[in-house]
Amino acid sequence: MDAPQPAIFIDGKAVAARLRAEVAAAAMSLRARGVAATLAVVLVGDDPASAVYVRNKTRAAREASVDVRDHKLPATTTQAELAALIDQLNRDPVVDGILVQLPLPAPLDAEAVIAALDPAKDVDGLHPTSLGLLARGRPSFVPCTPSGCMRLLGEVGAELAGARAVVIGRSLLVGKPIALLLGNANATVTMCHSRTRDLAGEVRRADVVIAAVGRPEMVRGDWIQPGAIVIDVGINRTADGVLVGDVEFAAAAQRARAITPVPGGVGPMTIACLLDNTVAAARRRRG
Ligand code: GUN
Repeated sequence: MDAPQPAIFIDGKAVAARLRAEVAAAAMSLRARGVAATLAVVLVGDDPASAVYVRNKTRAAREASVDVRDHKLPATTTQAELAALIDQLNRDPVVDGILVQLPLPAPLDAEAVIAALDPAKDVDGLHPTSLGLLARGRPSFVPCTPSGCMRLLGEVGAELAGARAVVIGRSLLVGKPIALLLGNANATVTMCHSRTRDLAGEVRRADVVIAAVGRPEMVRGDWIQPGAIVIDVGINRTADGVLVGDVEFAAAAQRARAITPVPGGVGPMTIACLLDNTVAAARRRRG
């Protein structure tokens, strides 16, 4: 028997850099016609991880020639104050996309805030209209992390039609929309979650595994079917301060045909896809 081929490590950093360069070119061509694609970023409270995400988004946007309007609000902001800001951004003709960084501090109701966004500016793809259109197979804005995962699958030429895809995690941000995207691409999709009876058994049958649970290395390497493609959305910090994914990487890489590393896999794609959505919003609204 032939020795197994080493797994391809899917280089999300490189794919994201390429996408950001495409976005920058599109943003520059809008600028040449007098349109500055503009993203409003709303950050409430002082969650340190959210502050880092927002800083990274702002930097990447500016590098891609996308203007950013930062709105930093204190954790004491009321629902009514936040609603008033969303209303103002919805009406502002200069703002193409609105990103409300999640999670919002308690007791703010994120559902209500997202539902108040103008769907034409919902570059995060989380508004009920965006998710409804995605469910109907006519997506407008696709949520950024799932969109990044699909691009990485495309990068390694994944044959999705007829493939068995297992999605672990059913969050609104990742699990649910990626299950819809995979279904729209004609995969046979199984959604797994904390109540799944035999997670190992489900993963063992999968040609494509998407892990998005946020639990360090919970997907064991020996669950991976030889030749499967593994996309690891998890970014978890261990007690020793090391970043690991939701998949036991080294062992899984012994069996997978292709796998995303953590960090440097899915992570960099999210921001690139957000900028792509923002320039698409600018083009649709003002192009
Ligand atoms: N928090 C973590 N990831 C995301 C994301 O993709 N969008 C928003 N709005 N908040 C997040």
